[in-house]
Amino acid sequence: MTDKLNIAVLGYGTVGKNLVDLIDAHEEALGLHVKYVLRRPGKAAGSRMVDNVETILRDVDVAAVVDVLPGRDPSLSLIRDALAARLSVVSANKAALAADLLALEALAQQAGVHLLYEAACGGGMPCVEAIKKTARFDEISAMSGILNGTCNFMIDAMATEHLTFAAALSQAQTLGYAEANPKADISGEDVRNKAIIATSIAFHGAVNPHFPVSGIEGLELAMLEGLANDGKCLRLMMLARAEGQRYAVGVAPIILSATAQPAHIRRNLNFLSMEGHVVGPLTFSGQGAGGRPTADAIIQDLITLRNKTAERPTFTRELVYDPTLITGVAYINGQRLENVTLEAATVAAQRQSQFLAFEPSVA
Ligand code: HSE
Repeated sequence: MTDKLNIAVLGYGTVGKNLVDLIDAHEEALGLHVKYVLRRPGKAAGSRMVDNVETILRDVDVAAVVDVLPGRDPSLSLIRDALAARLSVVSANKAALAADLLALEALAQQAGVHLLYEAACGGGMPCVEAIKKTARFDEISAMSGILNGTCNFMIDAMATEHLTFAAALSQAQTLGYAEANPKADISGEDVRNKAIIATSIAFHGAVNPHFPVSGIEGLELAMLEGLANDGKCLRLMMLARAEGQRYAVGVAPIILSATAQPAHIRRNLNFLSMEGHVVGPLTFSGQGAGGRPTADAIIQDLITLRNKTAERPTFTRELVYDPTLITGVAYINGQRLENVTLEAATVAAQRQSQFLAFEPSVA
């Protein structure tokens, strides 16, 4: 392949290193070339390593930047700068994207370039482009997902290997699944960001970011053992539903039958199911965290850019948040609350600083 797409990679952590190694090893077949790697001052050693983004933005040979930096900042401003400089952006940074997704998409459109983010929701599981494609024609009425590999790994390790919370978290960190600050994983914040990305695309509009979010902090082995004895299990999940303009979305530890599909999602695997009026149910699963799977999702986006086949989602609907679309039974500190909304259950648990487990009436 002669005309390679020159890219710059912003960040050189687990995902960045895997990405650069994979592209270097398959440069000819992929038609991609890593021209720059942006690193922190003092870390930029080697011919293509740079420590200032201006070198990248000024280079007319660079067609796209890949953002694999941790945390919302400085990614958010770097994405804006790159789009404004008419460079396409591939970002794995869910925090930056969730903070301003619609405005970033609008900026990309104005600049005549593309913003792609398959890796930002579901890691190596190819769900973002699938949601985009499904929503082009079909009406998506529901989605549910296991979108944090760290929490799924931890819950699975606690339930099956009887590890403590701390031991399970330490293993997830060693395996490279957890964020630099794992608080974002275990608090549900990471899933919140991914839920904003998934639902904005699926429901075609701006999602109010203040929806109910609970994580797995305070999860005890005894709860998982009790659920197993009742033929049930727990998964940290995003739930989302829509009826016309009305929608609800939330993140919580969800109680499921041990025979339900998400109950079979083990270790760092992620899962996403959606329901289209026309297509019916669709499900996806794959590795949601880790260097190589996430790098693979980024490479998919880069191939899309190289092939000039990128499409934009549409965000034309005025969405109205309606928490009554997600109801069920809540378990808080030994209490059982029947027929509550996920929102009311979340507020009640947070007021008491207690762990919430929620069993939705429609899974
Ligand atoms: N910390 C994240 C997770 C990485 O565990 O899912 C992938 O987004």
